[in-house]
Amino acid sequence: MVTATSARPRPRIRQTQLFIGGQWVPARSGKTFVTVNPATEEPIADVAEGDAADVEAAVRAAREAFDNGPWPRLDARARGRLIHRLCDLIEEEIDELAALESLDNGKPVSDARLGDIPLALDCLRYYAGWADKIHGQTIPINGNYFCYTRREPVGVAGQIIPWNFPILMVAWKWGPALAAGCTIVMKPAEQTPLTCLRLARLAQKAGIPDGVINVVPGFGPTAGAAIVKHPGIDKVAFTGSGETAQIIMKQAADQLKRLTFELGGKSPNIVFADADLDAAAVGAHVGIYLNQGQCCCAGSRLFVEDSIHDAFVERVVAGSRKRRVGDPFDPATEQGPQVDKAQFDKIMGYIEAGKREGATCATGGKRVGERGFFIEPTVFTGVTDGMSIARDEIFGPVLSVFRFADVEELVRRANATSFGLAAAVWTRDVARAHDVARRLRAGTVWVNCYDVFDAAAPFGGFKQSGFGRELGERGLEPYLETKTVTVSLAPPGGR
Ligand code: NAI
Ligand code: MG
Repeated sequence: MVTATSARPRPRIRQTQLFIGGQWVPARSGKTFVTVNPATEEPIADVAEGDAADVEAAVRAAREAFDNGPWPRLDARARGRLIHRLCDLIEEEIDELAALESLDNGKPVSDARLGDIPLALDCLRYYAGWADKIHGQTIPINGNYFCYTRREPVGVAGQIIPWNFPILMVAWKWGPALAAGCTIVMKPAEQTPLTCLRLARLAQKAGIPDGVINVVPGFGPTAGAAIVKHPGIDKVAFTGSGETAQIIMKQAADQLKRLTFELGGKSPNIVFADADLDAAAVGAHVGIYLNQGQCCCAGSRLFVEDSIHDAFVERVVAGSRKRRVGDPFDPATEQGPQVDKAQFDKIMGYIEAGKREGATCATGGKRVGERGFFIEPTVFTGVTDGMSIARDEIFGPVLSVFRFADVEELVRRANATSFGLAAAVWTRDVARAHDVARRLRAGTVWVNCYDVFDAAAPFGGFKQSGFGRELGERGLEPYLETKTVTVSLAPPGGR
């Protein structure tokens, strides 16, 4: 179903410059780049295009704020309060932030308003609560010594984020870094810089000291690479493609920089014949279609047990045809455009490959309309394990369906991927649910649900889906160093 793209009142676009040391500044080169509305293909704004010279200035500001500024020395509880204050300001502007996110990214405004931003707030408030609960241990070592550990901030964090969940990715990155007492140089994705810049403004308004958060929009090979290579950056946190992660890992090797990666997936979503099939059908849709299919944890491989395969697939297909694709600002819209032309072309290329390699396109497969990067919800059946649509991350609304007959075979095929981010199992058999959950090589396994996220529950990948975890207590680790202090208890002169 297609709804027209209408002209709507636009959110105010206030921040388009770099945010360095608490100042809004143009790029040193004077360059700008255009950010585009993917629903209309029209330009939204010119944004300052940072490169190595701007990253240099941002690192200097972040370094000064870390080495000499108040942030790491502030009472931990006061740091937590400032993060809460940022959340209060986000809540005051939540409708405009949602509109800005939708404009820049193309996601339905209701998704941003009811999904992304509440999750971002939950994450920031969760880590605000951690700020004064990060502490070490006392350790009974041999001899007459008092030994204890301190958890100290790792230093200046370079944070490079993608375009699929711009606000949420800011929260996942800033939350633990700020709670730990780190300072930040962030590069938002070139497709979606606007909400990150707005959040930097709100952070300043909240009273987070200048230099603690610096934002340098720009492109990967210039601004991104400069962050990775800069010796003043202690740690890099990256979310995006495996290809870029490999480049980053090589470039960070010289300085043995600390790295965490949250990368892609090809997650299996497994439906057994005894499952609640109504719930599983909804779960199949959420798994693949949420955020236009642009989710690292998308359930893009749907495994359906033989005996229910045809009937279940029929439901998934019928539901796919009913999805409302169109204007992200229409509250009834369920699916907006893909983020940009490159992603649109990549996805259409995989749809063509699926047809060429012999899978059946049961529904979808075409562009929607002539303007904007809209793609029909698409389901391929008869997919075999070697096809490119079975193996590669498509990152769009394209589902590949597989048939399975027995559990051993299923587990083997579900794990036969270089990825390991997420998986789901639908069954009423408790023992089988836990057994399969245990045997799947993935960082998150959902049972009888999909895409359930919580700030307290760690998220991240096995295998080439990345390393390190975000969210939860585990998400703090990459922003902390452990210092061991050993004190002799021998009295002076008493040795
Ligand atoms: P990408 O990995 O190139 O971009 C992600 C971020 O990394 C952006 O901020 C980008 O500017 C930056 N970047 C790019 N090259 C860099 C470099 N050499 N050094 C430092 N930073 C660099 O991903 P892209 O091109 O946007 O999407 C390609 C594919 O990656 C997608 O089709 C999808 O399969 C996957 N992807 C996965 C995401 C996830 O959430 N795991 C998010 C975005 C993309
Ligand atoms: Mg790229």
